Amino acid sequence: MMLVWRLFHKKGIPWYLARHYWWAYLWRPGIWVFDHQPIINLILLGYYRRVVAAVLRNIPGHKPCRVLQIASAYGELLPSLDRRIKAGELHLLDVAGPQLQLARMKLKNSSPGITHHYTQMNSEMLGYQNASFDIVSIFLLLHELPPEARQRTLEEAIRVVKPGGKLIIAEYGRYRSVHPLHRIAPVRWLFTVLEPFLASAWREDLTKLVSRHAEHQSRNVITFTDEAIFHGFYHVASYKIV
Ligand SMILES: C[S@@+](CC[C@H](N)C(=O)[O-])C[C@H]1O[C@@H](n2cnc3c(N)ncnc32)[C@H](O)[C@@H]1O
Repeated sequence: MMLVWRLFHKKGIPWYLARHYWWAYLWRPGIWVFDHQPIINLILLGYYRRVVAAVLRNIPGHKPCRVLQIASAYGELLPSLDRRIKAGELHLLDVAGPQLQLARMKLKNSSPGITHHYTQMNSEMLGYQNASFDIVSIFLLLHELPPEARQRTLEEAIRVVKPGGKLIIAEYGRYRSVHPLHRIAPVRWLFTVLEPFLASAWREDLTKLVSRHAEHQSRNVITFTDEAIFHGFYHVASYKIV
């Protein structure tokens, strides 16, 4: 059982995804179970829709745009994004083929004004040109990546945002000793067992990281918003980058 993950470590699947999340994202029965809206909502402690709504609030719904969703997600995120965009292009990438198949099924009856593109790709190395997208969205992915992969993913996400475009990130909030779920040691322990890279993500200042990576690319974050959800246990940040 300990080595089951090796069966999933193939065809470009990164070790961290195969090793720690095969049961959630690569194993068909797991995919079937987790894609039920009540289940994914339970995993997000009942806050799934609020997190999605906060993401959507950052997307201007009135003009056509080119949107990149970095990594798929269970539940209603993709159909909600699709409805919000109204016209333009929705590009979805995921490193796992089964996740892209699921996404295609979810979007098969979607708005005729939008073209969909599905690409099997690792977020650490995007095959898009610089400045290609009006909106780049990352939904609860960063804490599932080891720190180096997280940094590369952020760098790449910033690189493909058009000047004046937005990077929207939904994530766990920073660790704060006042939040009850951070304070209760067994709860904290459970989260970090299920999410082995969360402890490191909890301690990072996302805004500083995004600004630093933007500066390295001679770019700037000119405005940002940061919406706390469930007293900051989750948050949705949106960075306008020039
Ligand atoms: C976005 S994250 C977590 C989403 C959240 N738990 C949910 O479903 O609501 C999960 C997705 O990220 C994908 N993924 C993980 N590492 C990736 C990487 N390096 N590049 C692209 N996709 C990746 C997985 O295949 C999976 O579909």
